[in-house]
Amino acid sequence: MADVSLDDIVSLAKRRGFVFQASEIYGGLAGFWDYGPLGVELANNLKAEWWQAVVREQDNIFGLDSAIIQNPKLWEASGHVAGFTDPLVDCKNCGARHRADHLAGKDTNDLVELEKLLKNKVCPTCGKNTLMKPRFYNMMMKTWVGPVEDESSVAYLRPETAGPMFTNFQNVRETMRAKLPFGIAQIGKAFRNEISPRDFIFRTRELEQMEMQYFIYPKDEKMAYEKWRKFAWDFLTQRLGIAEAHLQWHEHDESERAHYAKAAHDIYFKFPQGFKELWGTHNRTDFDLNNHLKASGKDLQYFDDDTKERLTPYVIESSVGVGRMLVAVLADAYHEEEINGEKRTVLKLDPKIAPVKVAVSPLLKNKRELVDKARGVYELLKKEFGLVMWDDNGNIGKRYRRQDEIGTPFCVTIDFDSIKNDTVTVRNRDTTKQEVVKIDELITTLR
Ligand code: GAP
Repeated sequence: MADVSLDDIVSLAKRRGFVFQASEIYGGLAGFWDYGPLGVELANNLKAEWWQAVVREQDNIFGLDSAIIQNPKLWEASGHVAGFTDPLVDCKNCGARHRADHLAGKDTNDLVELEKLLKNKVCPTCGKNTLMKPRFYNMMMKTWVGPVEDESSVAYLRPETAGPMFTNFQNVRETMRAKLPFGIAQIGKAFRNEISPRDFIFRTRELEQMEMQYFIYPKDEKMAYEKWRKFAWDFLTQRLGIAEAHLQWHEHDESERAHYAKAAHDIYFKFPQGFKELWGTHNRTDFDLNNHLKASGKDLQYFDDDTKERLTPYVIESSVGVGRMLVAVLADAYHEEEINGEKRTVLKLDPKIAPVKVAVSPLLKNKRELVDKARGVYELLKKEFGLVMWDDNGNIGKRYRRQDEIGTPFCVTIDFDSIKNDTVTVRNRDTTKQEVVKIDELITTLR
């Protein structure tokens, strides 16, 4: 990671088609973003890697894709309607609203402490010492279901993907004949009416989460908690190749923890704006299952065949945002280097997650035999790899720079020797070394 600023990342993301402002031509909408052609590939690769590691490579973890809008009783029972809040402070002078904890510079939900910390602060919008008492503000996004817009039809866009994993506990257990410990995982959108969305896609109002709820015997809470903390760390460092020096642990104290959590550890990543939360592991105990059991009157307990005991399982949750992970891998992979006196920006992304796997170029775009040969190689590689890009624009040096900037691990060039010898030149993004490879050995070389 070079000394990369958030502006560098935002500019690269826009220039190269990773992320655009949502409804940009109308001035955008705060907290909403669109993923462009390369952003959607990168995000899909991150999601596929997570799904592979969580659902496919683990024992007893099952996938789910639940509805975004659920019966509002779900969010009443989960405590979100009453307690999914952030501390807010209004300015009496200009009416601006700010996140009280951000302004106070401390991660806490303690309103008394926040009031003290904000005493001598000024409003960042008007600069006056006219901040009011901090108060809680609910972040649930509301809508109406059906043709009547009144209190009877109010529903919520889910604020986290977790909720329906609890209400589907028995459905998954029964259909999969699952025994403790087992997990339910899903990837999907969540919505939060954040007071101050900011830092590009770091804090948004529409976000995507990758979450897993691991149902366990209560006695195993410590062991399972440590297992999923380690899982998150290993995923970031080993599967995505993020440098350990850019990660650190942050344990929540009581004033910071969500209403459902008995313990919470975040992994913080060194984002350009500082070390901030990337991935959370939470001990949600039997909080959710018990609340849903009470509110619905349905049996959400587990019967242990061996001990003949009924119990409410505890839940260890692993939760990470796709957007935050995407910015983290971009920032971690971003390098500015000088090669033979020429500057280059290069994304040293792990090839598994690089949006474009390989670029194919004919040396000259106006030589029919080179173009035809290159097309053949392009078609061959497209069947084997993810996204393969055709690039015949500008000189070869420019093409390499363009691919470096989006993290393409290999560039394949077809020249006059290719016609004679059935070979291509493969250029490696990281070493910039070039190697002549037989076309029939190309797929094995690039794997
Ligand atoms: N189910 C637990 C849960 O939602 P959280 O700490 O509120 O816990 C989990 O969110 C993860 O979701 C965070 O670590 C972060 O990666 C991501 N996330 C949360 N709020 C976000 C927001 N407003 N914008 C982008 N990502 C967000």
